[in-house]
Amino acid sequence: MKDPGTSYRLAVLASGSGSNAARFMSYFRGHPRIRVALVVSNNASAPVLQRAREAGVPAKVMPGPAWDDSRTAESVFNQYGIDAIVLAGYMRLLPSFMIRKYPGRIFNIHPALLPRFGGKGMYGMHVHRAVIDSGARKSGITIHLVNEKYDEGPILFQAKVDVVPDDTPVDLAVRVRQLEHDHYPRVVEGYLLQGRVPEKPAI
Ligand code: GRF
Repeated sequence: MKDPGTSYRLAVLASGSGSNAARFMSYFRGHPRIRVALVVSNNASAPVLQRAREAGVPAKVMPGPAWDDSRTAESVFNQYGIDAIVLAGYMRLLPSFMIRKYPGRIFNIHPALLPRFGGKGMYGMHVHRAVIDSGARKSGITIHLVNEKYDEGPILFQAKVDVVPDDTPVDLAVRVRQLEHDHYPRVVEGYLLQGRVPEKPAI
C-alpha cells in the first residue's frame, strides 16, 4: 500500500470530446495531492487536446504504433511521473504491459450499469439504445478498475438514473453524462486517498 500522504500524478486518456477529462482538470486544479499531469489521445483531432491546452495541462497524441512499442509508451509515462491512469472515453484497449505496470491504478467509466450493457461494441449511443430497447427502467454509470479483463475489473462505484418513457438515446445520454461529471473525479480521489492503492511494480 502507498503511504497515506503520497501524491498522485494522473494521466487522463481520451479519444473524443473529453468532457470527463475536462472535469478532472477542473476538479483537481489546485488539489494538494492529486493533479492531472498529462492528457493523452490516440486521435490528433480530438477536442480533448484543445481542452487540455486551455487548462494548461500537457497533452500528447499517441496513435497505435506509440502504444505497440512498450519503450515509447513507458518513457512518456515515466517522463511525466505518472502514478495512475484515468480512461475517459478512450477507444483503444490498453496494452497489457501498461495494465501490469499500473496494477489497481487504472480507472474506467462505463455509461451503464455493468455487467449489463458492456463489452464489445458497447460504447456511446449503442449503449443507451441497448438499454432503452431492453425495457430497463434504470440506467446509470459504473466506475471500475481496469485489469486484463477490461470491462470486468472490480467495480468501485455505481449510480443510477431513471429511464423514462419516450426517452431517446440522446435524452438518456445527457442524464448519464451529468452523473459521470458529478462522480468520476470524486470516486477516483476517494480511492487514491484512502490508501487502498497497490504498489507499482518496478518494471
Ligand atoms: C463517456 O460516456 C464515458 O462513460 C465513456 O466515454 C464517454 C466519454 O465522454 N467511457 P466524454 O468524451 O468524456 O464527453
